[in-house]
Amino acid sequence: MLDFTDQVVLVTGAGSPKGIGRTIAQTFGRQGGKVLIVDINQEGIDKNVQELKDLGYEAEGFVADLTNPDSVKELVDEIVDKYGRIDVLVNNAGISQKVTVADMTLDDMKRIFNVNMFGLFLITQAVAEVMKKQKYGRIVHLSSVSGKRGGGIFGGAHYSASKAAVLGFSKNLARELSEYGITTNCVAPGLINTEIWKSLPKEQAEDVIAGIPMGRPGETQEVADAIVFLASPEASYITGEEIDINGGSHMD
Ligand SMILES: NC(=O)c1ccc[n+]([C@@H]2O[C@H](COP(=O)([O-])OP(=O)(O)OC[C@H]3O[C@@H](n4cnc5c(N)ncnc54)[C@H](O)[C@@H]3O)[C@@H](O)[C@H]2O)c1
Repeated sequence: MLDFTDQVVLVTGAGSPKGIGRTIAQTFGRQGGKVLIVDINQEGIDKNVQELKDLGYEAEGFVADLTNPDSVKELVDEIVDKYGRIDVLVNNAGISQKVTVADMTLDDMKRIFNVNMFGLFLITQAVAEVMKKQKYGRIVHLSSVSGKRGGGIFGGAHYSASKAAVLGFSKNLARELSEYGITTNCVAPGLINTEIWKSLPKEQAEDVIAGIPMGRPGETQEVADAIVFLASPEASYITGEEIDINGGSHMD
């Protein structure tokens, strides 16, 4: 088991009731981390923090809109005041929309990028400054298989483009932050067994599964376990990298 005792771990978008962020937060909690979760969803944050506490983990929730620079600054200042440091940042918050390019509006494009790329930029920039002072940090971003091979099941081309942008951002950042003992890596999940997958009609679900060599969607735990490894002190010589978690549906 990887040990996060005394480490402050911030997970964004972890207020979703059945989302990947909830599992990521619980996994860090189980491994000893102080788990801070942030989301725009107050109710979801309250529920997921209570769950973390009931499991015996140290946890606190914060409500913030990651697309708002003031909100992000306040969040990071508050965390540093209370906890003194941030060891791990997991950029999990993200949104999607199924729409063709033909029907996509510029506002659709901006909305997706605003969360998936610009919000991720704002929180990463603020947290990286804290990590630089510590001379230690681990940043893990949630990209997607859609950013590498195109999506089309749950997201449009704007979602794919935003997730591809995250891959490039992380690689460039790796060059800037290495001298401070900070790593930045991505995971690129394929189809994961969350609510959105369960909402797919049976016939369409069968078609999707046929394209996955492992013949099933991934579990949120399988994503969390890869993230926790990249966020651990043990992953000290891995940066600017991405791990595909997709049951073989895309290999490169
Ligand atoms: N579910 C999948 O199959 C899958 C596959 C590949 C990648 N991903 C990525 O993994 C991440 C989590 O996916 P999920 O399915 O658990 O999503 P989810 O919708 O369950 O959770 C995302 C959370 O982000 C929060 N959020 C959205 N905008 C925000 C903002 N401006 N500020 C703060 N929080 C905000 C939402 O409130 C929500 O709680 C996303 O980045 C997604 O793109 C998911």
